[in-house]
Amino acid sequence: MPVMSSDAFGLPDAGVVEGQVSRWAAADSGFGALLRTGLSTAEALARWGLQLLKANRFEDAALVLRSAVALAPCDPVRWTNCGMALDRTNSPGEAAVCFERSLALSRQQPDTWLLLGLVRKKQGDAAAAEAAYRTALEQEPTMAIAWQCLGLLKEEGRDYPAAIECFTECLKHGGASAAVLANLGKLYCDTGRFAEAQDAYGRAVELEAGNAHYRKMLRETWFLRDIMEGVAVEEATATAKESATPQDDFGDRGLCELFDRALALLSGFGHLEAAMRVGRKRLEFWPGDASTEYLLQAISGTTKLDRSPERFIVEHFDALAKRFDTHLVKELGYDIPAKLAAAVRASTPEGHLYDALDAGCGTGLCGPLLRPLARTLTGVDLSSRMLEGAAARDVYDTLACEELAGFLRRSPGGFDLMVAADVMIYFGDLAPIFDAAAGAIRTGGLLAFSTETGVEAGYRLKPSRHFAHAPDYVRAAAGEAFAQELCEETTIRLEANARVAGNLFLFRRR
Ligand SMILES: C[S@@+](CC[C@H](N)C(=O)[O-])C[C@H]1O[C@@H](n2cnc3c(N)ncnc32)[C@H](O)[C@@H]1O
Repeated sequence: MPVMSSDAFGLPDAGVVEGQVSRWAAADSGFGALLRTGLSTAEALARWGLQLLKANRFEDAALVLRSAVALAPCDPVRWTNCGMALDRTNSPGEAAVCFERSLALSRQQPDTWLLLGLVRKKQGDAAAAEAAYRTALEQEPTMAIAWQCLGLLKEEGRDYPAAIECFTECLKHGGASAAVLANLGKLYCDTGRFAEAQDAYGRAVELEAGNAHYRKMLRETWFLRDIMEGVAVEEATATAKESATPQDDFGDRGLCELFDRALALLSGFGHLEAAMRVGRKRLEFWPGDASTEYLLQAISGTTKLDRSPERFIVEHFDALAKRFDTHLVKELGYDIPAKLAAAVRASTPEGHLYDALDAGCGTGLCGPLLRPLARTLTGVDLSSRMLEGAAARDVYDTLACEELAGFLRRSPGGFDLMVAADVMIYFGDLAPIFDAAAGAIRTGGLLAFSTETGVEAGYRLKPSRHFAHAPDYVRAAAGEAFAQELCEETTIRLEANARVAGNLFLFRRR
């Protein structure tokens, strides 16, 4: 179809539309028939545009509905329909203008407010999306779909309690679908409300018994609920096994996964006694598992460990590697790489390029941020699977699968920048790592890293299996070789629905 002249928004001139109409009527028998029924041209265009929209001919629909609006610009419904077509042509900005013009003509249109909210969300403006959804709900408080959209927005913003309220309202107003119930179940689980999670997943399975993921989550939350209510681990395990259907293929691996998820959730939410019971049974079933042994030590608080065991690091991160980026960044809002890179940039003279080491580089989240500051960029990590992710970014000159302290010791004077993002949490006693770093970092070079808080003095292994360090302890461990340039409070990532507090440090090698 030809492109027409337009006004500021892109409405065609009414005279041009009239000229087009006869050509469209000749070319499209359906539109011709609509005109012959005696409808006004604007109405015939509006109806034809909707037919095109329903037939998924979005570009054509947008053009025709624009023409309908041009002939009758005071009709709010036509503006809304035009906005819907534009939205489907991936023009959310223009769609939003249409919805706003519609709402300026008639404010009382909950459906159009909802549509405006959806395009604002697409544009990345969560605040405007929320305002539009809330106006829709003020006008129609029982609008289940608007509650659902608001719930999703809150969930994406990681405001899980608010998301739960919205999905609950959605259910109350007739929006109960298996997907909404399962989403609610996930939110309850992520906020440690295991009994409510089990109820929600149970209802989801009732509605969609064939969904294997819902059945798996029902089994998991049921197990958690049982454990929290004091049921013996053996009995809860038997229930989980019995509840599995033949299609679930719930063998040894499934059971092991169930135990690991339960351990992570129970310890994460501070149910340490329950986690101990599950952990002990896991070791009874699968003796020698490094992660579980380490977790039990961390939970019991009796450990003399001064760093995380290498076997745990390798097993844990090899297993996590594939979903590390999504899990850490999207789900847990991990943002230390950007914060450390900003701190380094602020202390870097114009044009200086470093021989940089990304220590414990993992999947290389720091790599693209350090690359512009680096003459050479090296990554080192214990987990070969994590390193595969780093290699895929194609920003490192060298990647080494090696223990950090050993690597530093065999790289004397090799670097003038070392960044360790979320890595010191795997070392309790920091003196050996500072000592090794002092040999590897040249005089005047920078050492940037993050730590977790949670201890008054010295260091402590937390039930999360991360070491917490007091800032005074960090400064003392850095010793004479380093001068502190920055110590700033920060937050690191979500854990049990709250952001973990920490510190950003920047030291200069004397
Ligand atoms: C939480 S991840 C952080 C990864 C990366 N720095 C980031 O910000 O995305 C911690 C990483 O440190 C690595 N790591 C822990 N202790 C290590 C050690 N002693 N030597 C080498 N790498 C280690 C782990 O294998 C893991 O990839």
